[in-house]
Amino acid sequence: MDKSLKPATIAAHAAGAIDPQSGGVVPALQPSTTYLRDENYAPLRPDNIYSRADSDNLRQAEEVLRALEGAAETMLFPSGMAAISAVFRTLPNGSRVIVQSGIYWGTTAWVRDFCARREIALLEVDAEDLITACQSGKADLVFIETPSNPWLKTVDIQAVANASDAVLVVDATAATPILTRALDHGADIVMHSATKGINGHSDVLAGVLSTRNNEADIWEMIRADRKMAGAILGSFEAWMLTRAMRTLPLRVERMSQNAQGLSEHLLAHDAVDDVFYPGLPSHAGHETAVRQMTGGFGSLLSVLVKGDKKKALNVVGKLQVFLRATSLGGVESLVEHRHTIEPHTGIPENLIRVSVGIEDINDLIADWDQALV
Ligand SMILES: Cc1ncc(COP(=O)(O)O)c(C=O)c1O
Repeated sequence: MDKSLKPATIAAHAAGAIDPQSGGVVPALQPSTTYLRDENYAPLRPDNIYSRADSDNLRQAEEVLRALEGAAETMLFPSGMAAISAVFRTLPNGSRVIVQSGIYWGTTAWVRDFCARREIALLEVDAEDLITACQSGKADLVFIETPSNPWLKTVDIQAVANASDAVLVVDATAATPILTRALDHGADIVMHSATKGINGHSDVLAGVLSTRNNEADIWEMIRADRKMAGAILGSFEAWMLTRAMRTLPLRVERMSQNAQGLSEHLLAHDAVDDVFYPGLPSHAGHETAVRQMTGGFGSLLSVLVKGDKKKALNVVGKLQVFLRATSLGGVESLVEHRHTIEPHTGIPENLIRVSVGIEDINDLIADWDQALV
């Protein structure tokens, strides 16, 4: 597709994927795991040998994401965690990594365990202290998450990139490539749990990595490891993802508008202590978010209700439109009482994490109003 096309056009056209065989305007689902060779044993399609290496459906989904990120190359994985672990597995024993603290708990837990087993020096640093940490010691890899889940901290990607020679990996799941193109801000690799906003329908598990430099050693290692160790996304999931991404810019726009409206409403509510959302001027990372995010501030926010754990659980229990379930970025709004899931991480007992969907904003506000009583 023409490189100058805007994200909404790239997404709506699935970066030009069609089905040349039938003339269909959407790509066909091709689930074959293996591909034919001719009588001279030459592959009919040298790019299709065995689906642990590649497949048409995978390439189609990757091309949409590559074009949206402005990346040199994009690779899909069977989950967000599979994508994160593919990055960390490239590190040799004895490396040194800096990882932002207070990020998605699953990442922190896996990275701690992995680094301990590999004798990798792990420095966990608050978002506010990342620049100093990067300047004061050499690192092989820096891993940040912006906006962070569930604290919604906003990290200045360019400032971190400028502060270190390390490979900078950014988990931009809560932003999606529509709101932040992390590679444009100095990231070497951008990662997303495509399970969230990118797919947006809570029915596909996937992860994605995109790079600025597909000849970098780390990227070559990740590419080889994905193929050899088999951490690849299946054709069906890739096909579903391509379908879902046609509406990604529209969904992100509506979700961001709803999240902005709901966070403003809740911040002004008597029964609420605070709201963490990058779109609120009161938010510590608001200025950075304004510089770094385009078209909105995402679907994720966290609410501190007035009262204790009992009160928070009571509010969560009374919500009707917001479904009580983990995850984020789907078209349906979700809530989660994170303290119940990760009581040991210092998450406040009165914090409710909210993923805002594409419903009517009046229904969303009315639901919270009745639940907060
Ligand atoms: C910010 C963030 N990164 C990574 C992940 C992991 O993604 P997955 O569940 O697709 O493995 C999650 C999941 O919640 C997440 O919120």
